[in-house]
Amino acid sequence: MKDIFDECQFGEFKLKSRIIRTGGWERDTEDGGFLKPKVFDRYEKMAGNEVGLIVSEMFALDPKDRFYPYCANMNYKGFIKDYKQVTNLSHHFEVPILGQLAFFFFDDGTNQKAEPNDISLEGIRKLQAEVVMAAKKFSFAGFDGIQINMAHNFYLARFINPYFNQRTDDYGGSTEKRMRIVVEIIKLIKKMVGCHVSFRINAVDGRKGGMTLDESFKIAKILAEAGADSVQITARTISFKFGETGDHAFLSYADRMAKELDIPVILGGTLRDMKTMNEILNETDIEFLSLAKPFVAQQDFLSEWKENGDGVSRCRACNNCYGKKESNCFQFGDE
Ligand SMILES: Cc1cc2nc3c(=O)[nH]c(=O)nc-3n(C[C@H](O)[C@H](O)[C@H](O)COP(=O)(O)O)c2cc1C
Repeated sequence: MKDIFDECQFGEFKLKSRIIRTGGWERDTEDGGFLKPKVFDRYEKMAGNEVGLIVSEMFALDPKDRFYPYCANMNYKGFIKDYKQVTNLSHHFEVPILGQLAFFFFDDGTNQKAEPNDISLEGIRKLQAEVVMAAKKFSFAGFDGIQINMAHNFYLARFINPYFNQRTDDYGGSTEKRMRIVVEIIKLIKKMVGCHVSFRINAVDGRKGGMTLDESFKIAKILAEAGADSVQITARTISFKFGETGDHAFLSYADRMAKELDIPVILGGTLRDMKTMNEILNETDIEFLSLAKPFVAQQDFLSEWKENGDGVSRCRACNNCYGKKESNCFQFGDE
């Protein structure tokens, strides 16, 4: 029998549970971008209360990026100091932590919004160099690796998607060619930084002519073969529905992936109670589950669940946190 509180192996990391906290927005800053004390409190509560792995809030590359005002930030003088404290807190409780990189626009030097079809070869090299540099910065700050968000509608999700990418050079056309930019990034990070490289990918994107389940599966295989260390499954909208049978929308897809891939596969979204999560673990080969909003509503709930042998998140999925772009809960935030 599998249980969310099993100690388990996740690639090179030993986890104290199968639960991955997946990130949100971080704009609780003051005085030139330094993190407010409550950010450290949040991390301490998560790490000290049975979470297996933490993925940070998203960091964007460019101050002109669409989500930059709501993002965690690596371009201020306190970045290493602040995030060394965050990663130290996590490591104090023996919880590995990945930094998430997500960017919507890419400035190739001549065009601040160079879309996948427009970006030049020099622009692609610039993009790859900036992603490797971000991995390096995460590593300096004590993160155990990088998670590259290639999901939702972010830049790399568009680059690998046939709906957006009609390039006729070596970076467009077949799935393999659209993935080339990413495969090269993996190899570069492995060579230059040597850290864990995780990807967030869409199972589907809901667009006609866009990403299908079959192509997404192929992409996950290409990632694993290129040296990626884990994949986390999501979709373009965060409010995807459960399947008709009441199962999680991507249950069979994630199960197939967990069976066929040699790297950890994380399923997430809409998971709220321990009973359902243990059923998923025991009825499939899925081994890791991610939660976001439950950690916004309460950072230390997993300890209560472990002690009681059961539990349901108090998150009411009002999505105010998402709408207002912050990691404070509108129902329970002042407690
Ligand atoms: C406030 C908020 C901010 C989010 N920001 C990010 C993000 O920066 N990167 C990311 O990959 N997902 C982000 N998400 C999506 C979540 O990681 C997650 O996929 C989604 O909320 C569904 O999971 P849940 O039902 O457990 O909340 C965010 C979600 C919320 C609510």
